Amino acid sequence: MARTQDYGIGEYTYPRGWFMVADAAELKDKPLAVRFFGQEFALYRGKSGKVVLLDAFCPHMGTHLARNDSSYVVRDGQIEGDSIRCPYHAWRFGPDGKCNDIPYSKAPIPKAACVRSWKVVESLGAIFVWHDPEGGEPEWDAPSLPQWNDPQWVRWKFDHLGSIACHQQEVIDNIADCSHLGPVHGETVKFYRNEFKGHLASQIQGGGHRTLVTPDGLQPILTTDTTYHGPGFLLSHMMGMGESVIFIGHTAVDDGVIKVWHALLVKSASKVATAEDVTAARAYQEASRLAFAQDFDVWANKRPATSILQVPGDGPFHKARIWYRQFYNPRARKQEFLKQVEGVQHRVVGMPSRLEEAETAA
Ligand code: FES
Ligand SMILES: [Fe+2]
Repeated sequence: MARTQDYGIGEYTYPRGWFMVADAAELKDKPLAVRFFGQEFALYRGKSGKVVLLDAFCPHMGTHLARNDSSYVVRDGQIEGDSIRCPYHAWRFGPDGKCNDIPYSKAPIPKAACVRSWKVVESLGAIFVWHDPEGGEPEWDAPSLPQWNDPQWVRWKFDHLGSIACHQQEVIDNIADCSHLGPVHGETVKFYRNEFKGHLASQIQGGGHRTLVTPDGLQPILTTDTTYHGPGFLLSHMMGMGESVIFIGHTAVDDGVIKVWHALLVKSASKVATAEDVTAARAYQEASRLAFAQDFDVWANKRPATSILQVPGDGPFHKARIWYRQFYNPRARKQEFLKQVEGVQHRVVGMPSRLEEAETAA
């Protein structure tokens, strides 16, 4: 297992950005204990519907706010309004992380009786946190998709791929990985390019595909326009037998361990998706999950590529790694990395960069 330091990415162990921390469907009446960025958190939905993410350990005596099943505080319901009670002595903390009730003490509540409350957003059926080693405000918007509220599109349900001992750098490499598309996914790549702009890293490519085929087994040209929105998740517009958007999110649990989710939003043929469209969309998501599982299989079992033995015909791994460094270093240094990768279409030796180019060559 390799750590951030082994890749020489930057001074921070965990990057700046929006990260998925839970599937919104996991948030029930009980708070959820989650672990990311080497830290424990308590995640819960207040009675108003507001989602709150707090540092897990109570300032009184260090009890985990969300890892307890037996205390009567927990059995009676820990969540009051948008506040949460600690299982041990029932101190209550508001969504701002400040203690707002100590049931047995009339004295003023000490200022130090607070935990950190994190900036979270509920969007696309998930909970995202803004993580920032510098403690700054979000530099770009939390994820959203206009299709999410369009009745013609069938909303996804997340596939939970679980945690693997693989550094997130290896997942990010995929955005620049032209030469794995054939061997891993059975794709006949016809065109390929990468572009970087600010917090966005894009891969535009297309070709035939052996996994995502039509029911008659034919291979339509599948084009994907994939963008990492910061270091934590990608959205990929996929055009093939239909139109869909893939979500892949990965969040560091510890240094060298990530948790991964996949989902697919599918456009149906009907103006308002029918039950049949939902069934078809679920089947298509499963095909997409299987294609993604082909990558996952490699990541779960490889040794770390702290350096890459690059040859002509490989994608621009090195450029993607430079782009990625902006998130592991102070914002003030961002341009240092961006000026090395922005404003150019990164092509692959021997590969057309656009479909028209591929067709002219054929
Ligand atoms: S440890 Fe949380 S209230 Fe005492
Ligand atoms: Fe892949």
